[in-house]
Amino acid sequence: MLITGKTRIVGIFGNPIEQTMSPYMHNAAFEALSLPYCYLPFNINHNDLEASVRSIIPLGIKGVNITIPFKMKVIPFLDELDRHAGLIGAVNTIEVREGRLIGHNTDGNGFIKAFNEEIDLPIAGRRFLIIGAGGAARAVAFALAEEGAGEIIIKNRTVEKGRVLADDLRKNFFSLKISVMEFNAYGINNLITDGDVIINTTSVGMKSSDPLIIPPDILRPSMAVCDLIYNPPETPLLRGARKSGIRFMNGLGMLLYQGALSFEIWTGLKAPIEVMREALIREASKTKCRTE
Ligand SMILES: NC(=O)c1ccc[n+]([C@@H]2O[C@H](COP(=O)([O-])OP(=O)(O)OC[C@H]3O[C@@H](n4cnc5c(N)ncnc54)[C@H](OP(=O)(O)O)[C@@H]3O)[C@@H](O)[C@H]2O)c1
Repeated sequence: MLITGKTRIVGIFGNPIEQTMSPYMHNAAFEALSLPYCYLPFNINHNDLEASVRSIIPLGIKGVNITIPFKMKVIPFLDELDRHAGLIGAVNTIEVREGRLIGHNTDGNGFIKAFNEEIDLPIAGRRFLIIGAGGAARAVAFALAEEGAGEIIIKNRTVEKGRVLADDLRKNFFSLKISVMEFNAYGINNLITDGDVIINTTSVGMKSSDPLIIPPDILRPSMAVCDLIYNPPETPLLRGARKSGIRFMNGLGMLLYQGALSFEIWTGLKAPIEVMREALIREASKTKCRTE
């Protein structure tokens, strides 16, 4: 990539940031389309978030992604939120538009695109068990509700956070059936049945010592399992799904599509999905080799 005086900067704000895969897919996309853009990682100190966001416009940065732990904290420093970011209460993409900072959230739609491609089951009317109630869970839950999901069961370690998410969903989706389970509650085997989809939105499964997040005997061949984790590519939950012969996907597809949607917000151009996918897969396989 040739950096010149005309290169436009986009990037990602997070802390830590070393692990991010986003630069690979975005820079591959810019190169494939010969766009004069460069995507950079910014490791932002917690106390410097406001100053960093306020520097975006003066430095001429065209837009940034926002990742852990700033997706909610960044909101007070923005001029406007789009509908998804407002509903979810978290921002993963900032766009600079006519000198104003606009917050978007592409995580939910990124999940839906990956789900449709990899799981390929109708969402309308279906029951989903969402494990977790953090920013990613909120994005996924609102996106599923918008797609007409029939029922959402939320199971989170901090049950109060699960209740807040359930209340926020109820206020916006009147016909959606919603319930909240205690994290270690028994009886999940009777609640989750054929045709249901289980989605892990927690970070449990990233470490090889992590426990299985659900009892293994609840899996049935007609179910599907999604894990938002993409490193490692196969968590204990997904290993269980594979061994049970059921449909499953990891978080790489969601990462790809949320990034593609950010790319389209910044450039106004259609994202070169296959180029971005190849870049992610290439890098993910290297990461896998490094951790083995
Ligand atoms: N594939 C993608 O594109 C994509 C996009 C976004 C996020 N993600 C992944 O999704 C995961 C969550 O991200 P986030 O932004 O939602 O983070 P977050 O807002 O910090 O939420 C973390 C969630 O995980 C739960 N959790 C954490 N440690 C736990 C443990 N030991 N036992 C049980 N529950 C635990 C938390 O429960 P409490 O409420 O009880 O703390 C909370 O529900 C991360 O692994 C992230 O990498 C993937």
